[in-house]
Amino acid sequence: MTKREIDMVRTCCKKAREIIEELREYLIEGISTYEIELKSIELMKKKNVESAFKGYRGYPANICISVNFEVIHGLPKKGKILKNGDIVSLDVGVKYNGFYGDCADTFPIGKIEVKYIKLIKVARRSFEKALKEVYAGSKTGNIGYVIENYAKKNGFSVIKEFAGHGIGKNLHQTPEVPNFGYKGEGDTLRENEIIAIEPMITEGEGETELLEDGWTVVTKDRKYAAHYENCVLIKKDGYEVLS
Ligand code: MF3
Ligand code: CO
Repeated sequence: MTKREIDMVRTCCKKAREIIEELREYLIEGISTYEIELKSIELMKKKNVESAFKGYRGYPANICISVNFEVIHGLPKKGKILKNGDIVSLDVGVKYNGFYGDCADTFPIGKIEVKYIKLIKVARRSFEKALKEVYAGSKTGNIGYVIENYAKKNGFSVIKEFAGHGIGKNLHQTPEVPNFGYKGEGDTLRENEIIAIEPMITEGEGETELLEDGWTVVTKDRKYAAHYENCVLIKKDGYEVLS
């Protein structure tokens, strides 16, 4: 990507992250995930961006909100009310001037169990640990290896059925960035390309299934999952986190 194109993605990522931070305020007991969806529509309007998700392969909502054993693509619902002890992942993607930005994080509602505090932390730390594998010439397998290893070391599993991805003029493009793998395998990372690295970590086995709504991905064993995502620019000798 050119310097100008990278700047466009950087702007998208910044706006997506700001929206997540502003939505955090609304993550309180008693609110429905649909109300958070409405708030996200308002915020995107205010920031002059479009949802990257709405209409993507027919996705009907503005953002994804995944609660507890929901892993990703949680469809906001009027009847889904947040309660004390829940963990909630917000996934926000924006489109602006023909470019995309995508990020996610998982937050507690009220007081959550210690094991879920750890789950959320491990999702974020696995991302941070994977960053040292991001440089031109590295491999997607190096990233996946670090994420899976760190999750396992902490007694958790990674979700293998979904992966991170290249991003730029499309929300999803090559390379695919799995959360597992072997060192030295997979696609080569290229300078000035951008990838979304998005560990999905669960306390269970890591198998998933789809809810009847056709979108929400849940763990088969109904164990809780945490999701963390940032877009990362690949540089000659390293990286820059854009979101
Ligand atoms: N944030 C998700 C990802 O990184 C995309 C949501 S897909 C949609 O892959 F269909 F829900 F839009
Ligand atoms: Co993504």
